[in-house]
Amino acid sequence: MKTSTKTGTKGRASDEARTEPRESAMKPAVPPRTDLLYQTLETEMGGVDIYTAALKCVIDEDLREEWEMYLEETKMHVEIVRTMLERFGLDPDAQTAGREVVRAFGKTLVCAMQTALSIQPETAQIVAAECVTLSETKDHANWSLIGRLSENVDGIEQEVLEEAYELIEDQEDEHLYHTRGWARELWRAQLGLPAELPPPEEEAEVTSEEEAVLVQKQSEAHRG
Ligand SMILES: [Fe+2]
Repeated sequence: MKTSTKTGTKGRASDEARTEPRESAMKPAVPPRTDLLYQTLETEMGGVDIYTAALKCVIDEDLREEWEMYLEETKMHVEIVRTMLERFGLDPDAQTAGREVVRAFGKTLVCAMQTALSIQPETAQIVAAECVTLSETKDHANWSLIGRLSENVDGIEQEVLEEAYELIEDQEDEHLYHTRGWARELWRAQLGLPAELPPPEEEAEVTSEEEAVLVQKQSEAHRG
């Protein structure tokens, strides 16, 4: 018992010593709802950089056209989220710990694509499709939460969240499901497997997870 207590005390002391500098550098906590909005803004801002980098890796003309459109839509999403924050009386340029993490994630994806440019073009294009898919997965998750949140609040908060959600909802679905399809089909083509390009999700104009699963199953059955 004694040994255990002593060890425990020692452990706490060293933990405190290790965490002290971090605590002094910590940003003030923000309420979870506010954190979600700042993370959403940073995801969209990172998305602009990610599409810009992805367009340097793309070789398929259909995919280039798709990503050029998504880049423009993402720039618009940045403005929508900035306006949403301002309507809540929040400074869109304020920095929070949550958005810093999201920014680091986005920079890592851009860095991965820059690295991929030094390998063969077909592989770099797949890396770009995977990076866009990863970023859009977070983006889609943010907006899904905003949509659910808007159903559980009222007054001006509901109005602001709902308005923004309705403006971007369909576009976010398309960004994620279509690019995910591209990543899968480009990989299949690279592996010498039967591939469908543009992917079936794009041809069928998929806008939900259920539709994506269905279209993928139908496509697999067709290919045998
Ligand atoms: Fe977006």
